[in-house]
Amino acid sequence: MEQEVQVNESLRETAHTRAAAEKVKPVEENEKINKYKELDQVIRLYSKEPGQLINILQKAQDIFGCLSEEVQSYIAEKTENPVSEINGVVTFYSLFYTEPKGKHTFDLCLGTACYVKGAQELMDSLKDLLKVDEGETTKDRLFTLKSTRCIGACGLAPVLVVDGDVHGKASAGEITKIIQAYRKGEKIEGTKH
Ligand code: FES
Repeated sequence: MEQEVQVNESLRETAHTRAAAEKVKPVEENEKINKYKELDQVIRLYSKEPGQLINILQKAQDIFGCLSEEVQSYIAEKTENPVSEINGVVTFYSLFYTEPKGKHTFDLCLGTACYVKGAQELMDSLKDLLKVDEGETTKDRLFTLKSTRCIGACGLAPVLVVDGDVHGKASAGEITKIIQAYRKGEKIEGTKH
């Protein structure tokens, strides 16, 4: 009898969950349609002038949060460019993301001055600590790891930029502290320069 009640309750829960999911689905679909409508307007606006692909991609990323394969194909079709060309641009520029970014972004400078001061070893440490490859986001969506070219702070090499904050003369120990702080919801101030 007790078992029967439990089964009935779990069936009711499943029905509730399904009903809730049904309600959420059209909302998500509507949001997606609205985003594509917004993108259409952007494409219409920028397509009037040549050489505006980067601007279109940037706006598309603002709208969708990243440039997924689906969004890239859509832009390719609407701008009459091959998908391979769109994808080539997206993967070339470090400002573009093909999957949603993490809450915090680590950009490690791999420019010459930073490279000479051990930036590559730091990149390897970051990959180990975060368990991701360059360009990827951690499973908990907390960190995205990227590399950047010279940001003009070579005197502080090697340089790590966290959410736009410059951390100069970065070391493996410093990086570990920064990661631990952000995991606890705290922040380590960047270097003044
Ligand atoms: S090379 Fe890294 S800041 Fe210039």
